[in-house]
This record gives sequence, structure tokens and C-alpha cells, in this order.
Amino acid sequence: MTKDGALPKGFERPSRSPSQEKYEKVKSSSKTTTLRISKFNPESDSTSTFSEFKVHYQRWTTVLDAILEVKSNYDHSIGVRYSCRQATCGSCGMIINGKPRLACFTKISELDSDLVTVEPMNNFPIIRDLAVGFERLIATHKRIKPYIIRDDSEVTSETKEFLQSPEDVEKYIQFAGCIKCGLCNSACPTMATDSSFVGPQALAQAYRYVADNRDKGKDERLKIIDEPHGIWRCHFAGSCSQVCPKGVDPAMGIQLLRGYLLGYRK
Ligand code: SF4
Ligand code: FES
Repeated sequence: MTKDGALPKGFERPSRSPSQEKYEKVKSSSKTTTLRISKFNPESDSTSTFSEFKVHYQRWTTVLDAILEVKSNYDHSIGVRYSCRQATCGSCGMIINGKPRLACFTKISELDSDLVTVEPMNNFPIIRDLAVGFERLIATHKRIKPYIIRDDSEVTSETKEFLQSPEDVEKYIQFAGCIKCGLCNSACPTMATDSSFVGPQALAQAYRYVADNRDKGKDERLKIIDEPHGIWRCHFAGSCSQVCPKGVDPAMGIQLLRGYLLGYRK
């Protein structure tokens, strides 16, 4: 470049920078879908309604991206809960095209539909629009004592730590992946009909600790779930395991727990 900013003879300034070109290309390749968002404020509405928006999406656009785009540009009032945007915090569960899913883990392109309908999770009270109350899930989770129970401390001068073999860990590690998103409780038909049912999320966590060989709280926990609204209310519909985004498989955990109660597991 010369002193006055002009390019040397024979060189031409490109009309658009490479990044501008890339942006234009991405924009022109986007598709459009209709996003239907359920709106309901329990303090002022008697029934829920839907608001519809046309949204552009790319192959990688998630349902949460689309909702936040609409919230930023068209309707600031949309109530939605999210945090990590990477399927880790468990905040963004909702019903997407009829199925409980994480909005940040569901790509619009994978739904294979011209219409994306988002509604609050079933079996949870609505706070506003897509945000629901987690009081029942947290209460049942706490009820099953989701921690290692034993009299001695984990660290003593003799033990330092409680070693586990890979086989010991294998027994419960799948169940330790629960992010408390509530999708399993939302899909569960017993949760819908029994407001006191402990639910698949808590039962899976009860199994997670019962199966951990460092834990000594098995009898205590089995007593908690062996009650009228406990483990025996599960009909084994299996819908909890179908919707779990972390592969926890609560239905299997419930069956394994029943094995302890029926005496063929120790
Ligand atoms: S078991 Fe799966 S679906 Fe249920 S709360 Fe845990 S991660 Fe979510
Ligand atoms: S925002 Fe955290 S799981 Fe979706």
C-alpha cells in the first residue's frame, strides 16, 4: 500500500471482505420456519394462547436460539428459562412438537417440520409461558437423600479415600449423569395422574446411590420409596427413558431398585 492509502499498481481492493462474503453466503442459505410459542400468565390469563413468528434458521440453529431471537427482536415478554446452552444445566426443558426435549439440544433442522410448536413441560406448574416451577422435582429429589450416607468421614488418616474398581463405578455411573431437567417427569403418565408420586427422576437417583458401594443408606432409601405413592405406582410405560437427553434410563433404574425390594438383589 502506498503512503496515501492507495494500492500499488496492478492490485484491486476486494468489494467485500472474506468475512462479509461468508456472512452473506450463510444468510442466503438459511431456511424459514414458523415458531409457535405458547403464552400463558397464570396471574392474568384463564387459558393459554399461541403467538406465531417466522424465523430464519441454519442447519445448526437450535430451538432455543430461535426463541431467543424472537424474544430479542419481536416479543420481550416471552418467559423462558435457560443458562448453559449446552445440555448441561437442565434449565431449558419444554415440549417441542409434542415431545419433552431440551430446547438448546434440539436443532430445528432435525425436527423435519415446517412448524415448530413450543409449550411448557407437562406435569409442572406454569410460572409464565415456557418457564415452569421445579418445586416438586426438587422436593422429591431431596426426599430420596441424594448423597452418600455413611457414619465415617470420607477422609480419615487410614483410608484417605474410598477406592472403587471400574466395575463398582459401572453399576451407577450412567445414573449419575442426571441433570435434573425434568423431561422424564414431564413424559411420565403416572406423574400426570398422581400428584404425590415420587417420579422417575427421584427414583433413578435413589438407584444411583443404592448401587454405589460407598453408600450405607440403602435400607433408609428403600423405605422412603416403598410407600403408597412410591416405586410401585410406576406402570413401566418407559416414556421417561425415551425422552432422557443424558441416557440415564430411569425405567431401568426403577426395575433394578425393585430387585432390591423383592430380595433378588442385595
Ligand atoms: S433422568 Fe434424564 S430426563 Fe430425568 S431429570 Fe435426569 S437427565 Fe432429565
Ligand atoms: S440451557 Fe442448559 S440444558 Fe439447555
